Amino acid sequence: MSKFYITTPIYYPSGNPHIGHCYTTVACDSIARYKRMQGYDVMFLTGTDEHGQKIEEKAKEKGVTPQQYVDDIVKVFKSLWSYMNISYDRYIRTTDDFHVQAVQKIFKELYDRGYIYKGEYKGKYCTPCESFWTQSQLDENGCCPECHREVKEASEEAYFFKMSPFADRIEKLLTETDYLQPKTRATELINNFIKPGLEDLCVSRTSFTWGIPVTFDPKHVVYVWVDALFNYCTALGYMNEAHDDFAKFWPADVHMVAKDIMRFHAIIWPAMLMAMDLPLPKHLAVHGWITFNGQKMSKSLGNVVDPFILGERYGADAIRYHILREMALGADSSFSNEIMINRINSDLANGLGNLVSRTVAMAAKYFGGTLPEEREAGEFDDELIAEATALRGKVDAFIDQTQINNALAEIFKVVSRANKYIDETTPWILGKDESKKARLATVLYNLLETIRIVSTLLSCFMPTTMPKVWEQIGAQESDISYENAGKFGVMPANVTVHKGDIIFPRIDVEKEIDELNKIIGGQSGEAEKADDGFEPAELGEEITIDDFAKSDLRVALVKACEKVKKSKKLLCLQLDDGFGGRQVVSGIAQWYKPEDLIGKKVIIVANLKPVKLCGVESNGMICAADAPDGSAKVIFPDQDLPCGSKIR
Ligand code: MSP
Repeated sequence: MSKFYITTPIYYPSGNPHIGHCYTTVACDSIARYKRMQGYDVMFLTGTDEHGQKIEEKAKEKGVTPQQYVDDIVKVFKSLWSYMNISYDRYIRTTDDFHVQAVQKIFKELYDRGYIYKGEYKGKYCTPCESFWTQSQLDENGCCPECHREVKEASEEAYFFKMSPFADRIEKLLTETDYLQPKTRATELINNFIKPGLEDLCVSRTSFTWGIPVTFDPKHVVYVWVDALFNYCTALGYMNEAHDDFAKFWPADVHMVAKDIMRFHAIIWPAMLMAMDLPLPKHLAVHGWITFNGQKMSKSLGNVVDPFILGERYGADAIRYHILREMALGADSSFSNEIMINRINSDLANGLGNLVSRTVAMAAKYFGGTLPEEREAGEFDDELIAEATALRGKVDAFIDQTQINNALAEIFKVVSRANKYIDETTPWILGKDESKKARLATVLYNLLETIRIVSTLLSCFMPTTMPKVWEQIGAQESDISYENAGKFGVMPANVTVHKGDIIFPRIDVEKEIDELNKIIGGQSGEAEKADDGFEPAELGEEITIDDFAKSDLRVALVKACEKVKKSKKLLCLQLDDGFGGRQVVSGIAQWYKPEDLIGKKVIIVANLKPVKLCGVESNGMICAADAPDGSAKVIFPDQDLPCGSKIR
């Protein structure tokens, strides 16, 4: 049997988990379940990364020991994973004794091999990220290139890991192999880190104690990233006796991470493995962030949606489905209550739920629940059967490329096809005609079989709900397998259905959004104070000055302003733009009253194509910036500038 080893990052228990943390874990869980269904011997690892200055500081603030602090939060992580039905095979905590001792051995081994040496570190340190940076790596404001917060000068005696011997091999790994998924991310890594010359990495700290002591120099603790990355190996028994499946499962088949920790997994991790002469993992799948109002969802921003609250309202499976369906590998996915509820309603309640309940209800109504064995083929059957049987192959391919959203999209195409088949074959008309019973039985059987295939594949993504579907369509345990998901005609011709509860109830969108907004409002009040503040939206693609010159930005005076009727979000502004005046509609009504703007000069994008918003014509756009509380702040230029003044 082939093995398959998949890992999530190990999470910092520096605060409770949020929906953003759920994505990787739910995605890895779905892939692990799929691979198990395909017959692989799967190892799915997750865990917590418990050392470091940040944890030490948080524990101190709370007046508990770091160990007590992490123990409490790890309980919340574990209960969330159980709530979300995460089928991990192993959970590693970096405070586990076996891991601590293994990391000590690894550090010593790297030292003995000459890859770690003692030196003096002078550099810029970002406390929240626990990362040292060189001057050239800082952002344009001289801040941390990862989180854009302030860095401080720091200097300490430290051990270093030699990176340069591995530069060529790493460049090849990123450009010539399919290690990195998506591969398009290789350019930024090569330009930012490899081309300027890979600098040696500082791998020990003396400024705090909550870490793994270096055995041969105990005032040093091992840099938290070295400690953390090796979890992928120690959890299998590498350099320890607690487990014994390193030979079986290493190298990992998939490490899945979000983009902010790609550098550690794409450069530092391969270098350390090379130094230990260990085989490299096969794939590093990098996804974007779940964002909220355009910013990374994070505890410190107070924009966190509690997965327990959402799960309680809609069920863990609906949340799993939503985050998996929305996130495309390599891009960010914006979370909003509205998108989530609409997605649940359209795909789960109207799409799949409706298909199951209509089919089962008709089998009950016309045949008392048990289909007769007579059959009569007809138009549309072949197309449905062909699509249903081809589905498994398409899903396989997307799972192998960690493109879960696309796998789900394929499955829901078949759900739509089946709903269309009901409209085409009109079983309610067939049901009125005694001579059409064999045709009706065929139509219903084809629908039940399609549901069986779809729900078998979906059970990896929505593991709680699909067994309820099987119960309703009368599928037996032996009907549900990977092998049978590629075949049509598996259930007996005289299958018996069982009417049951609605699988995904429809949600009242407006009512729910109001209630969720109240909950989120309450949460942001309670949210931990940002020790660090604001995380800006991701930088856009590089453009040339000519690209920029295409946007015509001008100063304009707000002469009049009023709310757009029937819209809570829009204001309609009359502007003096220096060219005779224009009307612009802007989505800032939540944050500005008309009187806040009248008489002020603003900046507009003056050469945008006109559009109609809520039926009102808009000729341009008012420039505004993201604020840490999720609102938009209008940019007010020097008020003495004349109307029409061009911004260059
Ligand atoms: N401890 C390190 C990982 C060490 S792995 C050897 C760490 N932990 S973390 O808890 O901060 O983040 C864990 C993962 O969750 C990262 O991949 C991170 O990017 C991801 N996410 C945190 N917030 C997220 C979103 N809002 N959206 C998607 N993923 C998010 O980094």
